[in-house]
Parts: sequence; structure tokens; C-alpha cells
Amino acid sequence: MEALRDDTFHRITNLMHAEIGLSFAESKKPLVTSRLSARVQRLGLHSFDEYVDLISGHEAGGEFQMAVDLLTTNETYFFREPAHFDLLAREVMRTKPRRLSVWSAASSFGDEAYSIAMLLADLQSQGRMGADWSVLGTDISDRVLRSASTGIYPAERLRHVSTERLKRYCLRGEDESEGLVQIQDRLREHVRFGQLNLCQDASCVGPFDVVFLRNVLIYFDAATKRAVVDRVLGRLRPGGLFFIGTAEGRAPCTTPLQPLAPGVFRKA
Ligand SMILES: C[S@@+](CC[C@H](N)C(=O)[O-])C[C@H]1O[C@@H](n2cnc3c(N)ncnc32)[C@H](O)[C@@H]1O
Repeated sequence: MEALRDDTFHRITNLMHAEIGLSFAESKKPLVTSRLSARVQRLGLHSFDEYVDLISGHEAGGEFQMAVDLLTTNETYFFREPAHFDLLAREVMRTKPRRLSVWSAASSFGDEAYSIAMLLADLQSQGRMGADWSVLGTDISDRVLRSASTGIYPAERLRHVSTERLKRYCLRGEDESEGLVQIQDRLREHVRFGQLNLCQDASCVGPFDVVFLRNVLIYFDAATKRAVVDRVLGRLRPGGLFFIGTAEGRAPCTTPLQPLAPGVFRKA
């Protein structure tokens, strides 16, 4: 197969930027080549251009999703960046909310959403908050969302979950399911998943008391980051907590925010 030409690379990056806000510097050309070439060959296509034609067409839905999955990183695990969960717990203990609505925007496989659910279920059982709480996980990728809805994970991804929480909220697989863990229904009934492109209108969800938008802004250029953060903050109630990845620096937005801790802000 021919190499990825510059003009074809730009067709791919322009499409991804227009549809889902992804930005790729010129230096990412080898990465894009390596991530897409096996797929192009598997489909029996003769060039990257043919592949771009395929994912740009009106009928592209499934293959466009495949390209998104190949070009983004879905890495996630339970209780990633534990200081954020500690801060959320302290906030709940301080405010003792009767109801709480949380959004895990860019939820990937749902590890973050179920981690939040474990925390809230514990706080509820300790009488520190009411029973009317929910977590919504959204992502652009239907593949990760289908997986999230099953609540089934390789045990390795729950390595930061305490033994007590594993006992309380998870079932361990046996025989052919050895090495897998399933989240129990009593936790899953508080958690929903749905598809949402952060580059499009988000008024169909929320409003929320807490929003996690972690480890996704890295994909976007400055203008897209600002638009996404302001759009997401539009769904957060005043006084609500907003989390981004600690490595993502300041929250780039025009919405007034009070910084509380690395990656944590309160909406004014
Ligand atoms: C690295 S994961 C972050 C998962 C989780 N928030 C965490 O911190 O562990 C990034 C996710 O962002 C999703 N994503 C990328 N662009 C998106 C967009 N425009 N709209 C919604 N989700 C997007 C990807 O599909 C991927 O699942």
C-alpha cells in the first residue's frame, strides 16, 4: 500500500476536526498512519484516500466510528486520580445533598462513572446523602458505550478499588469468566450511558451538580477546548463541581470558575 500522502493526511485531520474536534499536529502523521493502515488493508482498500472516501460518505456511520476509535485513546481505569474522588466525598459530606446528579463526560468504558457510583453508594449507606442520585456517562464512541453498559471489566482495571468495595459492588467471574468482574445491578441502576459528541449541542443532558470532563481536552486545539468547556459548564448548576485531568492545566473557558485543587473548580 502507498504511504499516507500529506494531502490525504489533511483530509483525515480536517474531517476529524470538523466532526468531533480532534486536532492532529503534522508530527502525528506516523501515528495516524500506523493506527489506520491495518484497517485499510483489512477492508481490502488500495489507498488511504479510498478509506477517507469511505469514512466521509453519508453511509459512513459504522466505519467513521471505527476510525474515531482507532485515532483516539480510550484508556481509563477505576478511581483514576484518586484525589478527585476524595474531594467529591468531602464535598458530599459537607453539603449532605438529598439528590445529586453527576455527568462523566467522555466516560470511555465507564470506569469513571462506576467509580463515582461506588463512592456515592457508600456515602448514601452511611446516611451522608439521599438515595436520589444518578451518574450519566457519555462518549462519542458507541463501542466503549456498549461495553460500559454491560458493566463487565477485566479485574485488572479495578486494581485501585478497595477489597470492601469489590465485595459490596462487584461479582467475580468463574470458569470461562475467570478474570472478569461484573458491577452489581444495585449500582448499575444508578448509572446510565448515552452517546454525546462534546462538539455538538449538549442541552439534551443535565443540568448536573457535578461534572467530570477528564483526559479528553488533550485531543482538542485551544479554540475547541474553550468551546467544549463552556458548553459542558453550561450544563453544570451554579456552585457545582467541575473536574478536568490534573495534567490538563487551567480550565480554558469564559465561564467564571473558582479553582479548588489541581483539576477541580467550582462554578461561580
Ligand atoms: C482517555 S478517555 C478518558 C476517560 C475518562 N474520562 C478518564 O479520565 O479516565 C477519552 C475519551 O474521550 C472520548 N472523546 C474524544 N472526542 C470526543 C468528543 N468529541 N465527544 C465525546 N467524547 C469524545 C474518546 O472516545 C475517549 O473514550
